[in-house]
Amino acid sequence: MTRRDTLESTDSTTDYEITFPSSDTLDQDEEWCLVRENGATRKVRFHDYGEIYELPGLYEQLFYEHLQCSSPEIVARLFGRELKRSGVEADTLSVLDVGAGNGMVGERLAEVGADTIIGVDIIPQAAAAAERDRPGIYDDYLVLDLTALDEDTRCDLKSRKLNALTCVAALGFGDIPPAAFAAAYDVLAPGAWLAFSIKEDFLEEQGGSGFARLVRELADRGMIEIRAQRRYRHRLSASGEPVHYIALVAAKQNAEPAAPLAEEL
Ligand SMILES: C[S@@+](CC[C@H](N)C(=O)[O-])C[C@H]1O[C@@H](n2cnc3c(N)ncnc32)[C@H](O)[C@@H]1O
Repeated sequence: MTRRDTLESTDSTTDYEITFPSSDTLDQDEEWCLVRENGATRKVRFHDYGEIYELPGLYEQLFYEHLQCSSPEIVARLFGRELKRSGVEADTLSVLDVGAGNGMVGERLAEVGADTIIGVDIIPQAAAAAERDRPGIYDDYLVLDLTALDEDTRCDLKSRKLNALTCVAALGFGDIPPAAFAAAYDVLAPGAWLAFSIKEDFLEEQGGSGFARLVRELADRGMIEIRAQRRYRHRLSASGEPVHYIALVAAKQNAEPAAPLAEEL
């Protein structure tokens, strides 16, 4: 199947009955719901991505239909706008999509017109779901832990001449830590684009995730230039409250590595 066929045929066909708990005080990484399918009900934590990806269509139904997630669309739109403003043709892009999941962001990048899209995720269920749900969207999909890259993989990634990194709705919360983001940043060529989103609390001065400091250090040291920033509603919480994220588009300015900065956080 070609990338165009995939864009035209992507659809979730299975319907699940999803019920949300009535308590409204759960942290984002503790949220859960009940999923009923074929007469059986199971409790699914939102952050048990492996379990969610194994059920075809559940990710889309839960996060996009019920909780109205907008992150892939918002980040891709902001990125596309900055590319246009800079006179960069999307078909010159080789993108590393970090925390790629089942391909929601890859699909948007294909619509923007990226030439090459490489997915990276830490769990094999994500790679399998991307292949099942959006075959042909990724030119390659690597299952790996960016915080423990061996030298061969690092060299392989560098040799791909990646000139863009996306990371959408995957930073913090026990998902992608600053060290993994820094490792991905370090395999990019100077001049590469970064387009990512992060919960707004994590970018605030007192936020405990380390991302605020990493992004500030990268900007203060002139390693990145922030080209666009937008606060937006990422999705609703299980209790229906808006959850706000920041979308950022930046350009990598030089080859100075970010890994040592992440180590100091
Ligand atoms: C909320 S999902 C977002 C998926 C996709 N970016 C999207 O917007 O639909 C977060 C993804 O990050 C992945 N992830 C979590 N920790 C990771 C890590 N250390 N390295 C790579 N991927 C990770 C999870 O497996 C999951 O697929």
